[in-house]
Amino acid sequence: SDGDSGGEEYLFKIVIIGDSAVGKSNLLSRYARNEFNPHSKATIGVEFQTQSMGIDGKEVKAQIWDTAGQERFRAVTSAYYRGAVGALIVYDISRRTTFDSVGRWLDELKSKFLLLFSRYPFLNRTGRGNRPVNGIELVGLGTGFCLLKTFCAVHSDTTVARMLVGNKCDLETIRDVSVEEGKALAEEHDLFFMETSALDSTNVKKAFELVIREIY
Ligand code: GTP
Ligand code: MG
Repeated sequence: SDGDSGGEEYLFKIVIIGDSAVGKSNLLSRYARNEFNPHSKATIGVEFQTQSMGIDGKEVKAQIWDTAGQERFRAVTSAYYRGAVGALIVYDISRRTTFDSVGRWLDELKSKFLLLFSRYPFLNRTGRGNRPVNGIELVGLGTGFCLLKTFCAVHSDTTVARMLVGNKCDLETIRDVSVEEGKALAEEHDLFFMETSALDSTNVKKAFELVIREIY
């Protein structure tokens, strides 16, 4: 490995979850490539993108995982959530049913994380110093692939950064969930909250970067 080439580099895994058609894939493509697709197809399986940002002069990379909201396309096991340190839980402000599903997505997130920590209890003891984070450390680069080594600090399961995202805020005229309701639900579950629009870019960068900063 040539992992001792000076400065540290961090790779954090973030997952995007929520009902089908709330705009998860478009939020990711808007953030990672500044693209929006008005005719995007439902995601089948899992896709991910890596995006870098500079914080305190260091390069922080977020590996953002996007999966299908539709049950029949979710061949997803706990592998999807494994090692994730941040999550965006997305609903569509113009469709209340997607807001009503948020609790179910939070339950799934919680149960998968518990699974991770109960199956790999040793992870809790491999903290790096007293960094209050967990994540995936890049330990080797250069051969076309890298080895991912998961490291976690004690109590890391409670430091996961979660944000509730009310997407499609451009659809004000057919709004079905108020900003206040979004905020209240976020407060109830101790989540950050933001309304976004993948269509007109409102708050997309802000939402992802707040989660990434919070992890870092
Ligand atoms: P699944 O992959 O099935 O889980 O859906 P998804 O959550 O990835 O939704 P996707 O990004 O494919 O978007 C679904 C539809 O909503 C598409 O027609 C998008 O163009 C549209 N859409 C996404 N974001 C926005 C937005 O911010 N505003 C508006 N008006 N439409 C959006
Ligand atoms: Mg999708």
